[in-house]
Amino acid sequence: MIETWRLDCTHQSLVLVSSLNAMPAIVYYGDRLPDEENLEELAKASQMDVTGGMLDENPSLSICPEASHIFPGQQGMVVRNQEGKLLLPKFKLQSVDHNETHLIITCRDDENSLTYIANFECYDFSNMVVCFAEIKSDEPIHLSWLSAPVFPAPQQASHMFDFSGRWIDEFQINQVPWTMGVHLRENFTGRSGHEHFPGLIIPHQNTTNRSGQAIGFHYGWSGGHRMVAEQLPDGRRQVQFGNASNSELLASTQFKTAPLYVTFSKNGLNGIGKSYQRHVRKYIVKIPPKSEPRPVHYNCWEAVYFDHNIEELKEIASLASKLGAERFVLDDGWFGKRNDDTTSLGDWWLDEVKYPDGLTPLIDHVKSCGMQFGIWFEPEMINPDSETYKAHPNWLLGKADQIQGRQQWVLDMALQEVQNYLFNAISKILTENDISYIKWDHNRVLPYSDAAQIRGTYKLINRLTASHPEVEIESCSSGGGRSDFGMLEHTQRVWLSDSNDAIERLKIQHNSALFLPSKVTGSHVGPRHCHTSGRVLDIELRAWVAASRHMGFEMDPRELDERERKILSEICAWWKDNRHWLMEANILRLDVDDKAIIAEQQLAEDGERFVVFAGMLESSKQILPRPLCLTSLERNAYYEVTLKNKDSAPKLSRGSPFLKHQTLKLSGAYLMQQGLNLPWQFPQNIWVIEGKKL
Ligand code: DGJ
Repeated sequence: MIETWRLDCTHQSLVLVSSLNAMPAIVYYGDRLPDEENLEELAKASQMDVTGGMLDENPSLSICPEASHIFPGQQGMVVRNQEGKLLLPKFKLQSVDHNETHLIITCRDDENSLTYIANFECYDFSNMVVCFAEIKSDEPIHLSWLSAPVFPAPQQASHMFDFSGRWIDEFQINQVPWTMGVHLRENFTGRSGHEHFPGLIIPHQNTTNRSGQAIGFHYGWSGGHRMVAEQLPDGRRQVQFGNASNSELLASTQFKTAPLYVTFSKNGLNGIGKSYQRHVRKYIVKIPPKSEPRPVHYNCWEAVYFDHNIEELKEIASLASKLGAERFVLDDGWFGKRNDDTTSLGDWWLDEVKYPDGLTPLIDHVKSCGMQFGIWFEPEMINPDSETYKAHPNWLLGKADQIQGRQQWVLDMALQEVQNYLFNAISKILTENDISYIKWDHNRVLPYSDAAQIRGTYKLINRLTASHPEVEIESCSSGGGRSDFGMLEHTQRVWLSDSNDAIERLKIQHNSALFLPSKVTGSHVGPRHCHTSGRVLDIELRAWVAASRHMGFEMDPRELDERERKILSEICAWWKDNRHWLMEANILRLDVDDKAIIAEQQLAEDGERFVVFAGMLESSKQILPRPLCLTSLERNAYYEVTLKNKDSAPKLSRGSPFLKHQTLKLSGAYLMQQGLNLPWQFPQNIWVIEGKKL
């Protein structure tokens, strides 16, 4: 007996099959199938042959592959009973709850008293399947591993893209070939981290940014994940995502994975990026009304570090507001005795030496400049040198003899008293002061992987948000160390990187756009002399790179000369004029056969306008720029195209490409096929091209 189910979005279909009441398997995931497709035939068609040296049947690559079925690869769950005995589950389909957008599959293993539940939901607007798995047991069990529903990976792919990174260089893309066996990414750091962003993209052969098929995966969990991309001896491929193995430290009768976000594209990697960006904007982040439209930020970290002086901060605030800032963020250094990073984390009360009359004089000044006020916390951390640690040495996660990170330890967020303490301390600051924003930092890895830790953090944030719904929270973890959708379900912005070097930032932003929309991606204009790279970059490049995401400044505005102030104010004004559509636009990566160029097109949701940012990292190999081909325009529509910063052409650009002087009116077909001739430019510059549909 065969049972079949399908879930459809306009642009994708997912088909599951169960034969003889076995655990169901995904037999199709990809481009939308015709409505009339006979799913029983499709199930039969998915049967593979058997030959010498094989079992007499191919064990099912189900949504939770079972060792008891002699599955020749990684199993979907590894559990032990209280005595430590490994259980070998053998599930039978028990019930299915299915409608147009939902599929809930329940399987039961009576012998081991286990129930497995897989939950799928599809979202048409974002072309997304969101799924998770749950295991329930009559008796407490120990969980080593539970995968979200397992997907077969395409056979038409020769490689996959996954992500790594480091401090000030997040979102590096790795191209990994499919070979026999397992490609494993396992992150035991207890945070999603710079090193292991929980994402995977599997492009078909010849897929580019603009064309071809691909499948994207993102695991929405901030506590460290495990990813298995495995090719079985028979050639089949599977993808598993779940919490890092053995991160459940206690036995329980119930475990659940985080949501796995899966999307199919036939429009290249941009189809993947667009789906994730749309999904985050529409279904994940909830932005408080005060934070709309997205205000221009000023953050004082790289201006003053720990050296807080009210009069100086007021002066900085006044200058920042004149440049266009709308929210002033007081970073690290305002609490306890925090004069450097060796002390006071955990002591979340005001430093009365720096702020003898409280925060009010500074906040009043900030508000008189027309800005909102935001403040920095690092709630999950504690310094040995803090009053809170001395009073509560038992609040640590792990032992006090562990290696420290930035001279700090981690609090055990699963402890209710820790959550209560932090809730009360943060809530007090928020209640006593007019604060619209928290930068929520997290500057070290955990001593060990512990899923309860991140559940405690989520709980604390939920509680704070319920009491202070008007406050926006930014997720920061030494820059982009926690930029996953789990965090974005609880916060509204990510501090993508501590690198304010516009050249580095361009690369990080470009890759992160495969998952993150502009609206949640913070980007600040850093100091002229970059503090993390030592590079000196022109204000125009720095400002445009920040203006290509949620814009802010982070330099000391007193360092700016007149030209820099003028350019920064103008670009900031441009960003404000455009943010109503830019913050809802989709970032599309452009294909350029020139390693010196990183180019992206931000296209309004209604397709009526776009802006292209074409950054030149270095000198090109060929003399002149290659024409830049755009994407996702209407072939037969006409667009008015203008080079926004034409005045930036240097003297060495001696010719007259039309855009240098005038506006062009061209069809979508031409713009996508032939592309735009841009003027020659020095390296470390950026062209900004605006387009409007006529
Ligand atoms: C690390 C963050 O990434 C920085 O932006 C800054 O907030 C510092 N922490 C403060 O200690």
